[in-house]
Amino acid sequence: MGGTNPYIQQDAPQPATQKFTITFLPMNVTLEVDPESIPYGVTGLPGSILDIALAHAIEIDHACGGVCACSTCHCIVREGGESLSEMSDGEEDELSFAPGLTPHSRLSCQTVPDGTRNLVVEIPDWNRNIVRESH
Ligand code: FES
Repeated sequence: MGGTNPYIQQDAPQPATQKFTITFLPMNVTLEVDPESIPYGVTGLPGSILDIALAHAIEIDHACGGVCACSTCHCIVREGGESLSEMSDGEEDELSFAPGLTPHSRLSCQTVPDGTRNLVVEIPDWNRNIVRESH
């Protein structure tokens, strides 16, 4: 399953069952997330912030392919954090290597919103995959 690391034993969090929005900063793009479309792709846990972002052309770096083995998908959840899946020990370990950590930092491939809140998520400038992905 996308988003899982075979060396980490954990149950994947349940994805959202109701519609909600995510606003990505600093580009200030708001997406409506439809639970019927989850998983959007195969990268990151189903319904994770990374899964949703990539499906909507919001590029967040994800060097390990979304399996909780790097810290490049670091994001900062500015609003709606109470609706996010609990941080696993594996996420906590990898996140500790991310630059610019804040109390609201998460790994976007491992963070699954339950849909009860609208989110505002900041992508740190070192994580925006603009140069590699743009043509
Ligand atoms: S993409 Fe590597 S930990 Fe999220």
